[in-house]
Amino acid sequence: MSAILVTRKLPSSVLAKLSAVADVDLYTGEAAIPAEELRARVAGKDALVCLLTDAVDRGVIDAAPSLKAIANVAVGYNNIDVAYARSRGIVVTNTPDVLTESVADFTWALILAITRRLSEGERLVRRGEWKGWALDLLLGTELRGKQLGLIGVGRIGRAVAARAGAFGMRVAYTSRREIEFAGAEALPLDRLLLTSDVVSLHVPLTPDTRHLIDKRALTRMKRSAYLINTARGPVVDEAALAWALQHHLLAGAALDVYEDEPVVHPDLFGLENVLLVPHLASGTTETRTAMADLAVENVLAVLAGGAPLTPVP
Ligand code: DGY
Repeated sequence: MSAILVTRKLPSSVLAKLSAVADVDLYTGEAAIPAEELRARVAGKDALVCLLTDAVDRGVIDAAPSLKAIANVAVGYNNIDVAYARSRGIVVTNTPDVLTESVADFTWALILAITRRLSEGERLVRRGEWKGWALDLLLGTELRGKQLGLIGVGRIGRAVAARAGAFGMRVAYTSRREIEFAGAEALPLDRLLLTSDVVSLHVPLTPDTRHLIDKRALTRMKRSAYLINTARGPVVDEAALAWALQHHLLAGAALDVYEDEPVVHPDLFGLENVLLVPHLASGTTETRTAMADLAVENVLAVLAGGAPLTPVP
């Protein structure tokens, strides 16, 4: 029987598929499995089902000479040393497609929440400081007729763009690859930053995209613009963002992801013009179940000697 390490509780119906064919070692802690424990428990395993919070580095891979598959329950896979895993003949998989619509919906939730000042309003009510309806209370910004600037137009970026028409926004995008994207205007990054009213990030975290949005990029944005990040925290220089928001160089930011999760840059906490949520974009019961299921199906396929369903590109 194969042996599989699963680093966090998965829906029981999904886990049952693994248990039916393999010996499952399930880490049941609420937070990420500590690095040392991951190395110790992966030893002797044939497959690893892990989360984006697990650093699957050389140390982990070297600790498991019989490993055949690493299945990340996430579309992003910057937590895995993919090149090294490949050099050891290990298949690495992720969970594309199943979370696209849910992340796109959530991106719009953030766009609407920050431009219409939902969290500021909620805090006001909860503090008991609301004095009643007023013509000029917490006025937001309309989206109609404005430009949504997408940095990255893979599956999720495109799904975000598909919803823009409903809010009367035109779409511009920047992409490192030459791509066809009908109905949207291709712009170089600087131009996109200079002209967009909402800038939304949809790129993977790679050495090229780390701190893509740095102090220089932030100073390019319109003072009336908003930054949305549902991609990966390190794509934005968080200290530079806090500085830019403090100086009102942009109107606001909505962040689902952070440079050093779950740590949030302390300067962001005191700012009203930033909305902070805890990496929730794919967080619906349906989507998280589908992600776990796809990861498990990938493992089952590899252990059965077949091709994985969704190997990382
Ligand atoms: C992913 O799948 O990479 C997301 O960040 C999880 O929500």
